[in-house]
Amino acid sequence: MRQLKSISELREQLNTVRKADKKIILVPTMGNLHDGHLSLVKQAQKIDGLIVTTIFVNPTQFVAGEDFDSYPRTLENDLSLLEQLNPDIVFIPDTNEIYPDSQIKAEIIVPELDSIYCGEFRPGHFRGVATVVTKLFNIVQPDIAIFGEKDYQQLLVIRSLVQSLDLPVEIVGSATVREADGLAMSSRNSYLTDEERRQAPILYECLCGIADAIKQGDSNFEKLEKNGLNRLKESGFRPEYLNICDAETLKEPKNHKLVIICAAWLGKARLIDNVAVHTYD
Ligand code: PAF
Repeated sequence: MRQLKSISELREQLNTVRKADKKIILVPTMGNLHDGHLSLVKQAQKIDGLIVTTIFVNPTQFVAGEDFDSYPRTLENDLSLLEQLNPDIVFIPDTNEIYPDSQIKAEIIVPELDSIYCGEFRPGHFRGVATVVTKLFNIVQPDIAIFGEKDYQQLLVIRSLVQSLDLPVEIVGSATVREADGLAMSSRNSYLTDEERRQAPILYECLCGIADAIKQGDSNFEKLEKNGLNRLKESGFRPEYLNICDAETLKEPKNHKLVIICAAWLGKARLIDNVAVHTYD
């Protein structure tokens, strides 16, 4: 596992790989790695190619007043976890390498998804994600890039920018990894107190309950959303949104592929989760 910090070193190494006609697989992360991230690397290992994992806490996707400064940075532990899987390269740039002189002179925006749901509550967040991911695509020029399905709207933003900008990279979504009680793994779960941690799986339970109701033929989505929001509030959450949407566009559901998406605060942790429902089965 080679640890590289500069774009030029990384490019040099990858040029050799490209000449050998080997596929390059990118697994971008912000560090503070847990089993969810490791499952992305494991997914990459199923493909024959060279794996580049990146660790970069991207300042531009944090909105003013958010937890950029306190976001858990655990590089030593991240590297020892990665060593067990041994991806070929870990790219660990500092902020100045990615944004020299703090200058952002161009941004990537996916207008349809930029200011709805998480984008409404975190204005500018998806521009920051889309811009850094596009930069990583340009730096690494991967054949394949793997992202977690837990960040569902982010995954759609990335798929959309790749399609719109004709970027030659295949995007693979990887299933959400959950704790034994159903809570989706997330770096921000560490912000939960013990009591909140016990409450936290209610979010996933709530989404699964709605999914079951839909599968059993309940089509009163407005009522299902309202009941879900009420249950979360009664359980101590401060929900931002809970919606049943078209799985591909996040618009009004039009066909059988739906997704239930939710963001809710529990204490100091902003939790997001989603459950897919296909109504034909
Ligand atoms: O999902 C994340 O960890 C980040 O948003 C990503 C994709 C690494 C971009 O900073």
